[in-house]
Amino acid sequence: MFAERLQAAQRGVQDALDAALAGRAEVPVVHAMRYASRGGKRLRAFLVLESAALHGIPAPRAMPAAAAVEALHAYSLVHDDLPCMDDDDLRRGLPTVHVRWDEATAVLAGDALQTLAFELLADPVLGPAEGRVALVRALARASGTDGMVLGQALDIAAETAPWPLTLAEITALQAGKTGALITFSATAGALLAGTDPAPLAAYAGALGLAFQIADDILDVEGDASKAGKKLGKDAAAGKATFVSHLGLDGAKRRARALIDEAEAALLPYGDAADCLREAARFVIAREN
Ligand code: IPE
Ligand code: IPE
Ligand code: MG
Ligand code: MG
Ligand code: MG
Repeated sequence: MFAERLQAAQRGVQDALDAALAGRAEVPVVHAMRYASRGGKRLRAFLVLESAALHGIPAPRAMPAAAAVEALHAYSLVHDDLPCMDDDDLRRGLPTVHVRWDEATAVLAGDALQTLAFELLADPVLGPAEGRVALVRALARASGTDGMVLGQALDIAAETAPWPLTLAEITALQAGKTGALITFSATAGALLAGTDPAPLAAYAGALGLAFQIADDILDVEGDASKAGKKLGKDAAAGKATFVSHLGLDGAKRRARALIDEAEAALLPYGDAADCLREAARFVIAREN
């Protein structure tokens, strides 16, 4: 059930992003946006659509929000790969945007993917204005200095810090860097429906941390051809990660415990949340 629904989310969100980027000026920055908005697991889009389904909102009515979070995530990856950040030349199995084009195009394509996300959240298809404004506020908070940008800034600062981060500091950093957008995604359906997002936020908190632990484990023992990006970067940069603190086995145990926690948080939704439970297990079993 999970695999089919993830595939449907992947197809739906790609169509929505292609449609949003159709009919724009045929210039390099737009070509770079299309390039950066392809591929990926689409986990965040899937979480938006599943949390919407849990609240009786069908996929077509939630799709602009799913596309919005993937546009914002794509922007974060384009900028994360820049020479002034992680300086990576491979992403989703292809050359990164600044390698394929140039740095200025990558900066601008990232900027425009970010504004595209908020354009998509204004789409009337998403329903009454209250729900859309709630999503705009939540995505802005999750992306900025309360969320992703804060996490990225702490991550970059850690590279030159005089001592390695503690586990508590890494956990806080990841809650911003990776966790905030995952929490936005998993609570989007509740925000659109105007119901309490707390159980989904608890699920997403544990899921987001497990997701990042899996990213750290992949960095150590993943297969680069499957991951589609360069691995072994954390150790090379001397970065403190969940793996450097807990060891590989300890990190895997912690990730499994977080998945149990995520599944338990879904109790109020009963069987209707089974697909989200499967998604949690997928997050720590993934190869990319
Ligand atoms: C990669 O995110 C960057 C992190 C936040 C660790 P994903 O692993 O979700 O990347 P895609 O979208 O599937 O390529
Ligand atoms: C990227 O984290 C997180 C964001 C883009 C917000 P990483 O730098 O660890 O991700 P990868 O390993 O390049 O995918
Ligand atoms: Mg980074
Ligand atoms: Mg990176
Ligand atoms: Mg990483």
